[in-house]
Amino acid sequence: MKALPLEQQVIWLTGASTGIGEALTQALAGRCKRLYISARNEQKLQQLAAGQKHIIPCPADVTSEQELQTVAARIEQECGQLDMLITNAGTCEYVDAGAPDPAMFRRVMDTNFMGTINAISAALPLLKKSSRAMIAGVSSSVTALAMPRAQAYGASKAAVTHCLQSFAADLHTHGIDVSVISPGFVRTPLTDVNDFPMPFLIEADEAARTIIDGLERRQRDIHFPKRFTLALRLLGLLPEALRFRISRAMSRQNNNPRKLSS
Ligand SMILES: NC(=O)c1ccc[n+]([C@@H]2O[C@H](COP(=O)([O-])OP(=O)(O)OC[C@H]3O[C@@H](n4cnc5c(N)ncnc54)[C@H](OP(=O)(O)O)[C@@H]3O)[C@@H](O)[C@H]2O)c1
Repeated sequence: MKALPLEQQVIWLTGASTGIGEALTQALAGRCKRLYISARNEQKLQQLAAGQKHIIPCPADVTSEQELQTVAARIEQECGQLDMLITNAGTCEYVDAGAPDPAMFRRVMDTNFMGTINAISAALPLLKKSSRAMIAGVSSSVTALAMPRAQAYGASKAAVTHCLQSFAADLHTHGIDVSVISPGFVRTPLTDVNDFPMPFLIEADEAARTIIDGLERRQRDIHFPKRFTLALRLLGLLPEALRFRISRAMSRQNNNPRKLSS
């Protein structure tokens, strides 16, 4: 079955209020039939939708199954089906390996991993009603190589990638394509707080353009910028001993061994 052109699609995007999601909202505005945008910041969603009647703000916290089910019920009532779900909502917190905080791990997993599952679970019955639906989940290039301080974020995104790849296999027979989006560093509020060098940092509008191009081609693996993600993937293929040396060289604990025991 041929995929619908973007112009005929009903799309639901989570994490639409800032960063990559905001850039995706702006890039998709006027390009799809209807765009349902979710995040917790309702005021920001209203601003993004102002004057565009095909953009519908649907505030929801992705950690709440109930709130996402409510959005899905609204889409069903208004459109009867959904053609594309983009799970983009996410958060990042870095770990102090000397004092890992289980509550922080839970927060990151709840938003990044369970938030993705909650959205897919709410959207799936509607996606099955489309002639050729798609689920696209934003993971991260961090899954290619274990990075220092990324015990929570990296693990949550590895779970997202694995889960989406499993869904890709199982949903193929339902005519639903699944895409994993793995960005490198993108300038957004999430990375604005980083205090380390971010090689090949790109702007959010460039990320949005690359994502939409990949979605139109229905690519299962969308990763960018290629000069960064391909290099990272090559490093990820090295023997374990070499990967360990690279990760260890990047670790602050390695530069300041006292900190781990303090
Ligand atoms: N920037 C990068 O370099 C980079 C690299 C790789 C992957 N990513 C991934 O790209 C995605 C977007 O990140 P970004 O860089 O654009 O960061 P961002 O500007 O901080 O955007 C995060 C978005 O997720 C929403 N969100 C967070 N927690 C939520 C929750 N509990 N419920 C609903 N919405 C929630 C935020 O909206 P509210 O606060 O209004 O809820 C916001 O719209 C994330 O999944 C991130 O992990 C980013």
